[in-house]
Amino acid sequence: MTHVVLTGFMGVGKTAVGRRLARRLGRPFIDTDQLIEEAAGKPISKIFDEDGEDYFRDLERRIIAELEPDTPAVISTGGGTFANATNRKRLEELGVTVCLMTKLETILERVQRNDRRPLAQGPEGRKRLERLLKERMPSYRKADVLIETDSLSIDQSMQRVLNMIEPRLKQGELGEQAGQTGQAGQADHAGDDEE
Ligand code: S3P
Repeated sequence: MTHVVLTGFMGVGKTAVGRRLARRLGRPFIDTDQLIEEAAGKPISKIFDEDGEDYFRDLERRIIAELEPDTPAVISTGGGTFANATNRKRLEELGVTVCLMTKLETILERVQRNDRRPLAQGPEGRKRLERLLKERMPSYRKADVLIETDSLSIDQSMQRVLNMIEPRLKQGELGEQAGQTGQAGQADHAGDDEE
């Protein structure tokens, strides 16, 4: 099943773009931060405050490991999720990974507007985000598709994502149909014969 997985730094618009993309594709939208909050029974800011970041990361890993939507979905992840190799592997298995990218200045302006993101808070917020963005860039670059969204509206970003992933989604559907009709099985046997 080819899910669409959105990744990228906090404040790049994963949730907003993801929701619209899900609507456009007629798929359910899953936000892994929301799953974490539901599992913990409190908002992320409280998890960080009361239990610490390590606890949050453990919970995040568990949620990603257990993620197995039963219909093709659009999945939006937290900004730090893709930086962990185990999470990344699982998300890559789930489908096509898309990283949204935005300039640090735009990110700062967006994330410091409210107190929902603990890592952006406090006098060290800016420095911390700068460092994290730099550290995480090599991981983000491993996504199947990278999209710069600085000059794009949410709808334009969604359209750009759609244009980039449509061929992969079609390929995925064809693969599944082939699997259902047994063609994939036949291909396996053909491979065996050659050995
Ligand atoms: C985090 C990003 C947040 C959330 C948590 C940690 C990060 O998600 O998972 O605050 O480490 O970058 P968003 O990217 O949706 O803000």
